Amino acid sequence: MRILVTGGAGFIGSNFVRHLLDHYPSDDILVFDLLTYAGNLANLPSLPSTARLSFIHGDICDEQTVAQTMAGCDAVVHFAAETHVDRSLLNARDFMATNVQGTYILLEAARKHHIQRFLYISTDEVYGNACSPTGTSRPSQETDTLRPLSPYAASKAGADTLAFSYWASYGLPVIITRSSNNYGPYQYPEKQLPLFILNALEDRPLPIYGDGQHSRDWIHVYDHVAALSLLLHQSESNMDGEIFNVGAHQERTTLENATLVLKSLEKSPEQISFVQDRLGHVRRHAVDTTKISQQVGWQAKISFEEGIKQTIEWYQTHPEWIEGIQQKQNDFLDTALHLGEMRSTR
Ligand SMILES: NC(=O)c1ccc[n+]([C@@H]2O[C@H](COP(=O)([O-])OP(=O)(O)OC[C@H]3O[C@@H](n4cnc5c(N)ncnc54)[C@H](O)[C@@H]3O)[C@@H](O)[C@H]2O)c1
Repeated sequence: MRILVTGGAGFIGSNFVRHLLDHYPSDDILVFDLLTYAGNLANLPSLPSTARLSFIHGDICDEQTVAQTMAGCDAVVHFAAETHVDRSLLNARDFMATNVQGTYILLEAARKHHIQRFLYISTDEVYGNACSPTGTSRPSQETDTLRPLSPYAASKAGADTLAFSYWASYGLPVIITRSSNNYGPYQYPEKQLPLFILNALEDRPLPIYGDGQHSRDWIHVYDHVAALSLLLHQSESNMDGEIFNVGAHQERTTLENATLVLKSLEKSPEQISFVQDRLGHVRRHAVDTTKISQQVGWQAKISFEEGIKQTIEWYQTHPEWIEGIQQKQNDFLDTALHLGEMRSTR
């Protein structure tokens, strides 16, 4: 199968590419990525290392390039997106363009090229707070109403429902996944766990929004990409138009994560720094994974304790990757990691 992977140079996309290369020897992979601040060729195996992997630098909002790139592909796995909630609160324009318009352009091209499987990587952020229709807190189910609380989540919900409509209207064989929060190797360090790890290692503050009691279900990226690969290789037409939650049932608060990272690195709890809460901050994200477990036989295998230990070790043993990112001098990241202050005192 020839698979077009959009956003394959990002965090989850690159882990997915590695998983396919390791476990599906008959798949060829074409990564299509704009290499925004979050995209990084260093996330991928070096390109000449395998004939099964190729790369095209391009924008999913560019109709012509997308159409040319999709020719000859059998499947599309669509990760490419603007992904940081905090950035969407500062400026939502790119989120609307890439996440909504870009997804529309890919769906149109997929329809014209008779793509046999279109996997859309949505998120549990589309649900807003995890609760029943009567407002009782419980893990979100695929049939729950979407109540996104941030511009990022709203843009993903727009694309998620658009993808569904391409199955309903045109019969495009779409599958939609809504995963909980991922962590693991190659995650851009503006996101919570790598930010905590890097700041802890360098004795800088770990910022905690509000009271620190916001909770998320944390899934290791290796478990997530295993679920995606299983779904991608389902050929039955009764999978078309289906939506699957993906999660690990490992709910943890921000404060618990910061405390665990500091303890693991034998650092002082005084590095914890409470900051003003985020706008529209979802109190609880959690997903019910009964459907993917019953229909596909998938469940997460990596415990949070094991996964965070491996992740901390990965960031400790990849200084060249961290250095490469920091050299790009992104203002948002520099502020989160206090790098501007460090540079000016050097
Ligand atoms: N990280 C999570 O916890 C999480 C959870 C659930 C779902 N998701 C979804 O998974 C997908 C991947 O997330 P991630 O954390 O790996 O993101 P990421 O920010 O690490 O990577 C995004 C990738 O998309 C590329 N990209 C951005 N705009 C593009 C454009 N216009 N054209 C082509 N490429 C473009 C970037 O260069 C980058 O390589 C996203 O769709 C996200 O919404 C993420």
